Amino acid sequence: MSFIPYSLTRPILFGMDPEAAHDFTMNLMARGQNTPLQCAWSRPMVDDPIELAGLKFPNRVGMAAGLDKNARCIDALAAMGFGFVEVGTVTPRPQPGNPKPRMFRIPEKKALINRLGFNNDGLDAFLANVRRSQIRSSGKSGKPMLLGLNIGKNAATPIEEATSDYLKALDGVYPHADYVTVNISSPNTKNLRALQSDEALDSLLDAIAERREQLATQHAKRVPVFVKIAPDLVEEQIGVIAATLQRHGMDGVIATNTTISREAVQGLQHAQEAGGLSGAPVLEASNQVIRQLRSALGSRFPIIGVGGILSGADAVSKIRAGADVVQIYSGLIYRGPDLVTEAARAIAHVR
Ligand SMILES: Cc1cc2nc3c(=O)[nH]c(=O)nc-3n(C[C@H](O)[C@H](O)[C@H](O)COP(=O)(O)O)c2cc1C
Repeated sequence: MSFIPYSLTRPILFGMDPEAAHDFTMNLMARGQNTPLQCAWSRPMVDDPIELAGLKFPNRVGMAAGLDKNARCIDALAAMGFGFVEVGTVTPRPQPGNPKPRMFRIPEKKALINRLGFNNDGLDAFLANVRRSQIRSSGKSGKPMLLGLNIGKNAATPIEEATSDYLKALDGVYPHADYVTVNISSPNTKNLRALQSDEALDSLLDAIAERREQLATQHAKRVPVFVKIAPDLVEEQIGVIAATLQRHGMDGVIATNTTISREAVQGLQHAQEAGGLSGAPVLEASNQVIRQLRSALGSRFPIIGVGGILSGADAVSKIRAGADVVQIYSGLIYRGPDLVTEAARAIAHVR
């Protein structure tokens, strides 16, 4: 398998504005997927199967949500060796997100700040792309990568009506997903994270659980639902969230999203930009949330660990904190596709 070392590509991408580099790469991957160009980013799929939430993951490293918000590059990402790829966050209607600039690098700390605000083309376009992906349409058995579809609410929908957006999105993605993620932890949609608080979470998950039962009957398949939470939570809140997830029969928790804390990047260029901080500085905060979740949820409840994985050792630290599988986003920007195989190999023998 031939490939271009990321050490040659990265200086070119880092010479560009961060969002321009992102768009350039995504356009290239969308056009190049399933063509000979794909060898530029293809990596071997590490074989480390695990069964979790009733799903068979071919390995334990996944692509985190937010890179491919419109599900345009599913086949390209599958070729990087991920065991699972999560696309979205998708909202029912298209929306432009926040004004640019809205994405920043802090290279000294291998970090990013973004305040994109769920910029996406909406549910219909998203589903059309999912359907078009070869990995879904061909039913190829040689590529058992799992697909997660991550849903959110439109910025213009009042927070009191958030449930109706989540239900619309759930209806749309359900038949196409291996699992669905309910994202209630982006710092870039006003009041979204308030949905993590006791009563709001209880009522949202109540509605989602009820709709999921209906959808399971309608489509004759039970799709696991995961809930994605923030790192900026104290232990007491984590305990309440854990109990609420279990009470409503949720299948797993994804911990964590980006942080609003700036402690780790103080004084550096862009540190004061509004938005969510990701990458190396979020590793320990995310791991701490995972440890607290694991102790609150017991040993069997699925935890998908994400935040700050920049090396195989970081991935191991997340498994040791209590995660069953892990996801990466910022690490891919700083390290390139080699990180996928590095992380998957590092955790392959850690249970
Ligand atoms: C530019 C950017 C956009 C993101 N968009 C989303 C999103 O739409 N939905 C979501 O659930 N998480 C989103 N995330 C959060 C990531 O999925 C992940 O939880 C977080 O970045 C921590 O992981 P990392 O340190 O490996 O990046 C985004 C992260 C970044 C950097």
